[in-house]
Amino acid sequence: MGGLKGQHIVLIVGGGIAAYKAPDLVRRLAERGAEVRVVMTRGAEHFVTATTFHAISHHRVYHSLWDTETESGMAHLQLARWADIVLVAPATAHLIAELAHGFAGDLATTLALATDARLVLAPAMNRRMWRHPATGINVETLAARGARILGPATGELAERESGPGRMLEPVEIAQALDGAGPLAGKRVLVTAGPTEEPIDPVRFVGNRSSGRMGYAVANAALNAGAEVTLVSGPTALAPPSGAKLIPVRTAGEMAKAVDEHIADNELFISVAAVADYTPKQPAKDKIKKTGKTLTLELVRTPDILAEVAAAKKRPYCVGFAAETTDVVEHARAKLREKKLDLICANRVGDEHGFGREDNALVAISADGETDLGHGSKQVLAERLIALIAERLPHESG
Ligand SMILES: Cc1cc2nc3c(=O)[nH]c(=O)nc-3n(C[C@H](O)[C@H](O)[C@H](O)COP(=O)(O)O)c2cc1C
Repeated sequence: MGGLKGQHIVLIVGGGIAAYKAPDLVRRLAERGAEVRVVMTRGAEHFVTATTFHAISHHRVYHSLWDTETESGMAHLQLARWADIVLVAPATAHLIAELAHGFAGDLATTLALATDARLVLAPAMNRRMWRHPATGINVETLAARGARILGPATGELAERESGPGRMLEPVEIAQALDGAGPLAGKRVLVTAGPTEEPIDPVRFVGNRSSGRMGYAVANAALNAGAEVTLVSGPTALAPPSGAKLIPVRTAGEMAKAVDEHIADNELFISVAAVADYTPKQPAKDKIKKTGKTLTLELVRTPDILAEVAAAKKRPYCVGFAAETTDVVEHARAKLREKKLDLICANRVGDEHGFGREDNALVAISADGETDLGHGSKQVLAERLIALIAERLPHESG
């Protein structure tokens, strides 16, 4: 668990409606023992006043890069050094875009660029802004660099619209940072990404998995307070901060890593696209272009999920079924055959799935189906973790 006692948090308040919740967030963080300093963007000043933050945080509020009242005359460096966590809440579409691209035009963005602290964002915006591909890519970029993304929640938005985009409640944000969410105290092992099965020293059999869904699931489990081990095949992503990363390359290595780390985990979520077959005998030297055809002999790899699910002392087991046809039927068969607790059916191909920003998931268990809907991998991962958290205490006995 993270624990907020004594943690230094710089709270960057962006210019969104949800800024009205930020004073309550300061209080919630302080209740849990954190020290908070507030930085307001120019937009934020339209929604809430510095006086409120000053009164609640008992400290001056920072606005400007050109602040001559700080000791060094460089508030951005002073705050950047002081912070253990830089929390952006509400994270507006504009701030997210600036942070993703490394802009440094004001105090908030400059300090975010100058710090080694963990970056955590609680996005809040209109659902169309959240769903816009530009925002999607910016969020993915930040997540791929290791930023934690908290939410957004789905629900009533400011313009009497409903959909994803609502900032998590202050208490939920404080809980997530404190490691006190619905999975608090639980250990979760997540596998993610593709595997690469060597053909020779320079070639491999791989697949199109980007690892994004698995990393989003790891991020959501962390947000719910879990202790997360992430066993990952090769991806271009940075692990969410707080996860223990175990990098692997082949299916065999992944099986070994899972075997070594699965004990004491209450939950196993297998999102990795593990190769079913691997070359029987990888060539020692690079294979030359000689014959007209080349035949590779492939052998089965270990079925990691089925092996974990078959163990006597087993965690709650969640699988993913990526299919191109008859998605739900295939997933149901996999649930039964591998004796899983839950499986997420996931259509891959033209519209969704591998390498895409968006996904569509249906969670299936022996007692029925839950449609997790369509949306960014981040949002679907949060919904999946919420569903698992509801079921975990009952079904894992
Ligand atoms: C009334 C009003 C409400 C807004 N609410 C949001 C919001 O919830 N999320 C968002 O991303 N932008 C929102 N905006 C737009 C931002 O204020 C604008 O993009 C601004 O440049 C944000 O920059 P900042 O976060 O750096 O202050 C809103 C604008 C207005 C006028």
